[in-house]
Amino acid sequence: MVSITGWLTICALIASCAAKQPVAQYRPLPPLREQDALENKWVQMRYDRIPEILERHGYDAWILTMREYAEDTAFRALVSSTTQFWGRRRTMWMFHTNPNVTSPFHFVSLKDDLWDGLLDTLEQVNPKKIAINVDEDMAFSDGLHTGEGHKLMSKLGKWADRVTPCRDIGVEVIATRAGGKEQLEMYRLLQENVWAMIQEGFSERVIEIGKTTAEDLMWWFRETMVWKLGSRTWFHPSVEIHRSPDEPAVEDHPAMREGDMLHVDIGIYAMGMNTDTQHLGYILRSNETAPPQSLQDGLAIANKMQDFNRLEMRPGLTGDQVFWAIRGDMTKAKLNEHGRIYSHPIGDYGHSAGAVIGMADWQTSIPGGGENKVLKDYWTSVELAGVNYIPEWRREQNFELEEDVYWCEETDRFEWVFGQQTEFHLVQPKNRKHGHGHQHGHGHKHHDHEHKHAGHGHRHGHKNLGHHTEASWMSRVAAKLGWDIVRWI
Ligand SMILES: *[C@@H]1O[C@H](CO)[C@@H](O)[C@H](O)[C@H]1NC(C)=O
Ligand SMILES: *[C@@H]1O[C@H](CO)[C@@H](O)[C@H](O)[C@H]1NC(C)=O
Repeated sequence: MVSITGWLTICALIASCAAKQPVAQYRPLPPLREQDALENKWVQMRYDRIPEILERHGYDAWILTMREYAEDTAFRALVSSTTQFWGRRRTMWMFHTNPNVTSPFHFVSLKDDLWDGLLDTLEQVNPKKIAINVDEDMAFSDGLHTGEGHKLMSKLGKWADRVTPCRDIGVEVIATRAGGKEQLEMYRLLQENVWAMIQEGFSERVIEIGKTTAEDLMWWFRETMVWKLGSRTWFHPSVEIHRSPDEPAVEDHPAMREGDMLHVDIGIYAMGMNTDTQHLGYILRSNETAPPQSLQDGLAIANKMQDFNRLEMRPGLTGDQVFWAIRGDMTKAKLNEHGRIYSHPIGDYGHSAGAVIGMADWQTSIPGGGENKVLKDYWTSVELAGVNYIPEWRREQNFELEEDVYWCEETDRFEWVFGQQTEFHLVQPKNRKHGHGHQHGHGHKHHDHEHKHAGHGHRHGHKNLGHHTEASWMSRVAAKLGWDIVRWI
C-alpha cells in the first residue's frame, strides 16, 4: 500500500505528465541480417548475466537439455529468433559460476560425446548445487521434458543428487531485458509501427462507414503487419465495436456506424520481442467534432489507472503488492470499482516471465505469477479496463487500454515505451454536416452488446504454489512420473 506522501507524489506526477499523445510514423525495421546480428549481441549480454542470477539463488550450475521440437521454455531466450527456430538433435546448455571454465557449456549431438562432454565439464566446474527446469506452476521454469529429464538423470551419475529444481532462475533469465538501450530503441521502433498501424486502421482511410466490419479490420491489421511491417505476431488481433443500445445491434448489423466506439487488441513479434497494445477509436457523427464527454471521461479514468499501475511498479515488489497498491489508489481517487487491472510482463514471450499484476477475471493476489518480483531491466504490458457509466447508453462501459512500459534508470520509474493513448483515434463521418445534426429516428431498442475478448486469452489456470523442499524432491518426482532414478538418491 502506498503511504499518504506517496499518494500525493503520484497525484502530482499524474498532473504533470498529462502529455499529448505522440503521432507515430511507419518506420522500416533493419534488414534481417542486421536484426540477427543485434539479437545475437543481446543473447550474449544475457549469457553474461546468468552466472550472477545463479549465485543470487544459491546455485553453481543450470542445465538445460532438449530435443528438436521439444524445446525448453527458456530456449527462446537463448538464441536469435531470426535464424534459430528450433533446437537440433539433442541441444544442451550448462551455465555455471566457475570463472575458470567457459560458460555456457553448449553441445548439440545425439551421440554419447554430448554426455561425455557434460561429465568432463562437471568435473572441472564441480558445482555444489545444479538447477533444472522442473516446476509445477510456472511454465518458464518447467521446460525440461519428462523423457529428457529421465535421460539426464540416468546419465548424471554422482552429480544427480546435487540436482534440484529452481523456479526463480528460469523466470528471472527470461524476464531480464539484457540488451540495454539498443534493444529498447528497437522495441520502441516496433511500438511506433504498431501505433502507426492503429492510427491508420482507425481512420477514414481504412474504415468505410456503413461497409467495413470488425472482421474486415482485423484482417487488414493482420495483412498490414505482415506485408507493410514485415513482422509476425503472437496472437490474432481482435477488433470490437461498442455501440449505443438505440442503434441496430452489432450482431445483426456488423458494418461500422457513426457513433461507434472501436477497440483493438494487437501485438507484433520481431527480433525476439513481442508487443501488446490496446487502443480505442470513435466514429464521429456528422454533428460531432469529438466523442461524447462520457466516453472521453471513460478514457480519462483508464488513463489514471494506467498511471497508478506504471508508478506503483517498483523493482523488488511482487506483482501482488503492486496490484493491491493500485487498487488502493483507485479507491482513494474514487474511480469506478468495477475497473480491472491485468498487467503482465512482456519480452521474449507476449505473456512473459515475471510479476503478474491481477488477471482479467481474477482481481486479487495471483498464486504463482503474483509472487514473482518486478525487476530492473524489465518490461511490462500495462493492461486494464477502466469503467464509466455512459448515460447516453444507459449502462456501464469498459475502456480497455494497454501500453508497454520499461524501467528507466534516469527517471527511476517505469516509462511508456512509445506513449500513452490519451485521446480517441477519430474516424471522420462520411458527409460532415455542420451545425444541427439530424435525429436517427429508427427507434431500435437493443440489449447491451458489449463484446468480450475472444482474442488472446487472459485466463490462465493457476494452482496453489507448493514450495519444493530439496530433500524430498527427487523421490516425489520419481514416484509421480515413474522415473527409474531412485537409485541415484
Ligand atoms: C580458479 O582458479 C584460481 C587460480 O587457479 C583458483 O584460485 C580458484 O579457486 C579457481 N576458482 C574456482 C571456482 O575453481
Ligand atoms: C448529434 O445527433 C444525434 C442524433 O443523430 C443526437 O443524439 C446528438 O445529441 C447530437 N449531438 C450533438 C453534439 O449535437
